[in-house]
Amino acid sequence: MRLAVCSSKGGVGKTTTAANLAVALAARGRVLAVDTDPQDSLGRAFGVVAKGHDDSLARCLEDPTADPRAVIRHEVAPGLDLLPAHPALEAVAVQLASAGGLLTSVRRTLRPLLAAYDHVILDTRGDLGGLTLAALCASDTVLTVFTSDPGSALGVVRVAGFVEQQRAFENTSAVLLGAACTAWDKAGRAARQVLEALEGTGLPLMQTRVPVSRRVPSSTLDKRPIILSAPTSPAAVAFRALADEVLTAAERTQP
Ligand SMILES: Nc1ncnc2c1ncn2[C@@H]1O[C@H](COP(=O)(O)OP(=O)(O)OP(=O)(O)O)[C@@H](O)[C@H]1O
Ligand SMILES: [Mg+2]
Repeated sequence: MRLAVCSSKGGVGKTTTAANLAVALAARGRVLAVDTDPQDSLGRAFGVVAKGHDDSLARCLEDPTADPRAVIRHEVAPGLDLLPAHPALEAVAVQLASAGGLLTSVRRTLRPLLAAYDHVILDTRGDLGGLTLAALCASDTVLTVFTSDPGSALGVVRVAGFVEQQRAFENTSAVLLGAACTAWDKAGRAARQVLEALEGTGLPLMQTRVPVSRRVPSSTLDKRPIILSAPTSPAAVAFRALADEVLTAAERTQP
């Protein structure tokens, strides 16, 4: 599975979800986590910070002759390797877009790596711009995420439309597996309204909802996703269940 975690909105839990899914899936096979967001938060979730352009995805995208194996960080968690981003990715993406190479850049970079991994998890930036599209083109499945904030429901609808549009353009064959709630406030009125609004769209919703937990932001400070830092916490249990649900949904997409 090559899974892109996407949203049209920022700050809705993409990186937290990508990091925890990557750890959970790495318990069953080799996993590569790829950060395609110039904010480089996915690496930071594991305490990995690229020093510059040269030891990050930015270099691989910019230079088709670069060997992506040289910038991979090995075993950031058991069974999990990571290809980190760097803020230089921003300028590289602008340059590639004008040269016509952005769309296929992530797919091209990952191609020589795929045989070594059972799953690739791609974190994306909180928009539907060129870098997110490049991540989508490198993926076969997409997970979108939302919170208990009403604005994030609209984001789910936008991602679903974006994936369909890019499939129609033949830029990707990626399938939207579903939308997952990453910060479920079970007592909140807004949370219930978000869920009702999304149920009304008919879009696929993941059954697992990750509860709001103060331990999630503190796991970022610990540089260890919550599955590692507090494995028995309700949020960690939910992320493991979400990983199972994602795998089952991805298997259903196989011909
Ligand atoms: N279940 C949760 N409970 C409490 N806080 C959470 C939860 N999930 C995520 N957060 C917090 O919400 C914030 C945003 O999460 P995250 O960085 O994963 O979002 P994002 O969509 O990747 O953001 P960006 O668009 O900036 O990349 C972080 O501070 C994170 O710790
Ligand atoms: Mg993020």
